Amino acid sequence: MIVQDLKLDYNCDLVVKEILSCRDFFVDIPPYKYWIDLAKKKKIFMVETEDRYDSITIQDKNQVIKKSVRPPQSFYIKSFNSDYQPYSKSKKTDFTKSCWNKQIEDKIIYTKTLIETLPFEYIGLVRVFVLENTFLPTHQDRITSDANSQLGLSLVPTHSGSPLMIYDPNSGKIESVFSNSFLFDDSFLHGIPMVHGLRIDIRIFGKLKNLID
Ligand SMILES: [Fe+2]
Repeated sequence: MIVQDLKLDYNCDLVVKEILSCRDFFVDIPPYKYWIDLAKKKKIFMVETEDRYDSITIQDKNQVIKKSVRPPQSFYIKSFNSDYQPYSKSKKTDFTKSCWNKQIEDKIIYTKTLIETLPFEYIGLVRVFVLENTFLPTHQDRITSDANSQLGLSLVPTHSGSPLMIYDPNSGKIESVFSNSFLFDDSFLHGIPMVHGLRIDIRIFGKLKNLID
């Protein structure tokens, strides 16, 4: 499975409000130059114009190169400690050992309850991506043999008209997903075009019920 719409019914406005109350915890995550270069060489599809790819703040090795378009932001709601840590590292940690971020959980009471009702045997990682007047260049996350760390459930309480775009290598087509809730495998190439306003993606990983053995 690459992507599957879930069409969940939940209070999107309240989730947005709660996530925005956590602004102090947002961390800039400039995209890696590696992905910008691949896109400009036409090796992977682009979610935006070349001009915009040239204008976004990026990360090259450990150095941040500031440009006119701000980078996406992110923070963890459930992880392995309260500090920010790279996705690749978090995804390799035993999901049964994660905990809710103590500094954040009181601010997101509705969102946390909503996440806990989702069809998981256990929830390992909950990471929020915030795009405000920026975009997410095409990339793929770590390819592992562990389906739990690739197939996540996304809650998107607001997208301001910008979909998640995913490349399906079987059909050769790029799918645009506008749903407020869906499953998708982030080891496939994906990105989000310029968000004129706010888009929030809450990515939830763990052991899904009845979907993965
Ligand atoms: Fe990703």
